[in-house]
Amino acid sequence: MIDSPIEKEKFLAAEHAVNLVENHMIVGLGSGSTVYYFLRLLGERVSKGLSIKGIPTSGRSETIAREVNIPITTLQEHTEIDLTIDGADEFDPQLNLIKGGGGALLREKIVASNSKKMVVIADSAKQVKKLGKFPLPVEVIPFSYPALLKRFDREGFNPILRTSGGEKPYVTDEGNYIIDCHLGMVDDPIQLSAWFDATPGVVCQGFFINMASKVIMGKGELVEIIRKSS
Ligand code: 5RP
Repeated sequence: MIDSPIEKEKFLAAEHAVNLVENHMIVGLGSGSTVYYFLRLLGERVSKGLSIKGIPTSGRSETIAREVNIPITTLQEHTEIDLTIDGADEFDPQLNLIKGGGGALLREKIVASNSKKMVVIADSAKQVKKLGKFPLPVEVIPFSYPALLKRFDREGFNPILRTSGGEKPYVTDEGNYIIDCHLGMVDDPIQLSAWFDATPGVVCQGFFINMASKVIMGKGELVEIIRKSS
């Protein structure tokens, strides 16, 4: 049962997005609570005869997809994905994103960048004028993390090593750690994204620049389709 306005918005976005999936598509299956609704709705369409294969971006999404009988495939079998549907932690007017709140950013970025189209589904709280209020997840090689924490601190990024409950570092599906950088409003996400990408030890960072083709946003009882503003 959907019991809060924000959950309703997530559901509405997912419900709209599920109609974009066509027969015989290879579909990138994102991660997170909005994608959860999408997977359940996609499972319903599959049970009625839709023939697709999904590539999950996290262990959690794979489990849900299997539960609802969505056939699973891999990037090894299909290197080109027709459509990816994924959530976001923030999106700006250029449809640049921050992702990775759920820790699945690396596979999400690999899947998105090998997709003909990436569509974001989100509730209205994710829409921002400038990215950065949501801490930027940076996935790092465990060997590098103490040095990177210091380096990010020197840069003024207020870094915090993500933990899984207690003291132990959170470990991603790919065996890495995540440092959450508290940036505040970012004026130039493209430049900052390039800086992180050029830093040894960083495997992936949560800026998704120029990847989303549109955002389907639930707002109240309605759905808004947001395209890049010029
Ligand atoms: C996971 C993600 C999610 O897509 C993002 O955190 C949004 O999640 P939700 O739909 O639960 O708000 O990037 O790594």
